[in-house]
Amino acid sequence: MVIKTAEFVKSSDRWQDCPEGELPEYAFIGRSNVGKSSLINAMMNYKDLAKTSRTPGKTQLINHFIINEKWYLTDLPGYGYARVSKTMRKDFEKLITNYILNRKNLVNLFILVDSRHTPQIIDVEFIEWCGENGIPFSIIFTKSDKLKPNVIAKNVEHYKTELLKTWEDLPETYITSAEKKTGGDAILDFISKTNEFLLNNHVKF
Ligand code: GTP
Ligand code: MG
Repeated sequence: MVIKTAEFVKSSDRWQDCPEGELPEYAFIGRSNVGKSSLINAMMNYKDLAKTSRTPGKTQLINHFIINEKWYLTDLPGYGYARVSKTMRKDFEKLITNYILNRKNLVNLFILVDSRHTPQIIDVEFIEWCGENGIPFSIIFTKSDKLKPNVIAKNVEHYKTELLKTWEDLPETYITSAEKKTGGDAILDFISKTNEFLLNNHVKF
């Protein structure tokens, strides 16, 4: 998919305030600092479309971007950020889960995990929660530039093996680096094909 336009639409602190939901929507979620905003920028070929930071907890609202005037890309706040109060963490959690459960045009959730780590409890629990709630998702491994390709491949295999302990089928997986701008094309291909399918089947939200 060629990105002709990528524009910021709005930031919302409740799912009810998100933009009119008639276009297909794809959202990035994952632990704080995993690289959600950076990957959005890399895929859209923008330096600063989504705000990024070395400090976890940068994205605190639901941020909508409209791509090619045809679909929404959403940058969500990270979960599991330890350095905020318990109440704030609960509020973030509620913001995220309410958005996911209520956003009718949300077609697919991309769950980002750090390719350097073994499956983390918080990610595994979130993936389980998606399963229980029938939320379609794919997994994106981030920051693959930080390790050698053979180590990444081993980590990804390990991750899949862990998932297969509870899942019959594996979701789509993508290996990416925002730094090296790799892996984004496969994600855009998937989005493009899905949009085409929705259009051909006259799916309305
Ligand atoms: P929150 O908004 O806090 O939830 O974080 P986020 O998931 O949006 O992470 P963000 O994109 O802000 O990136 C966090 C840090 O990781 C920044 O310092 C980025 O430069 C770095 N980073 C993100 N992606 C990559 C990558 O592919 N490679 C490398 N080496 N660093 C990355
Ligand atoms: Mg962010």
